[in-house]
Amino acid sequence: MSGPVLVTGAAGRIGTWLRGGLPEHGWAVRCLDVVPVTDVRPGEEHLVADVTDLAAMVDATQGASAVVHMAGISGESTWPAISHANIEGTYCALEAARRSGVPRVVLASSNHATGYTPRPDGGLLREVDAPPRPDTYYGVAKVTMEALGSLYADRYGLDVVCLRIGSAFAEPTTTRQLSTWLSPADAVSLVDAALKAPSPGFSVVWGVSDNTRRWWDLAAARALGYEPADDAEVYAEALIEVHGEPDLSDPEHARVGGEYTLPEFDAENFDMP
Ligand SMILES: NC(=O)c1ccc[n+]([C@@H]2O[C@H](COP(=O)([O-])OP(=O)(O)OC[C@H]3O[C@@H](n4cnc5c(N)ncnc54)[C@H](O)[C@@H]3O)[C@@H](O)[C@H]2O)c1
Repeated sequence: MSGPVLVTGAAGRIGTWLRGGLPEHGWAVRCLDVVPVTDVRPGEEHLVADVTDLAAMVDATQGASAVVHMAGISGESTWPAISHANIEGTYCALEAARRSGVPRVVLASSNHATGYTPRPDGGLLREVDAPPRPDTYYGVAKVTMEALGSLYADRYGLDVVCLRIGSAFAEPTTTRQLSTWLSPADAVSLVDAALKAPSPGFSVVWGVSDNTRRWWDLAAARALGYEPADDAEVYAEALIEVHGEPDLSDPEHARVGGEYTLPEFDAENFDMP
């Protein structure tokens, strides 16, 4: 592990968790965000830059051992905004890594890359059985992220691990998240595994905790070395008391992308007329 890990989106929710947790796993962290990190911690390096600025990203990746690319718009938005921040931004992160000789990139993909995929009749859904099926422009950008990652792995030999993150919150707040929650500690463990796995090549794995109600298979993530410690079930009783028993035929529970597949995510609610 020589050189720091460049964490883009370091001022965001998951970036903040990673800044807290990765040093305990032996990683030095170089932070990059378009807004300044306010709670600077000892040992961190800090850069304020836009991930779509390729020259700035080439500078930022110099001497890094890996890039953990979290920056971007973290939900649905207009096509111009999503395509610029999330698609151009991912290209710049990968291309900067290539130009700077950084051997590994971890990408924050999302369940929304495959959001219209239905819940299987029984058993767990493997990543290979959930090909691109985006539910939003946001999901299209995550599909493109995975495609760019695949290209840079095959063509340039980078190790690229795509994390199809579920619901990364301090704690689950809906009954859907009893299945899809990724806890802060498990987010750190998953990124650490993605950074340490020997020669992963190109890999796509779900990013969820070991939730009792989980229906996304964790075998591929565990093969990287991920050892989840949390289970959303400890919140089940309280959430069900407020929201009722989940109806598994409801799109919120019946599709990978949940509510993102509903009409309120139609373009007219996001695009300018
Ligand atoms: N939180 C979740 O449940 C979840 C689920 C699936 C995927 N993800 C993905 O994980 C990543 C991190 O999510 P989060 O919840 O921490 O999001 P967040 O919105 O809290 O943080 C994103 C960070 O990216 C920064 N950013 C945005 N555009 C930028 C740009 N052009 N250049 C530099 N920095 C920029 C923002 O300033 C922000 O600090 C995102 O890519 C998101 O799509 C998150």
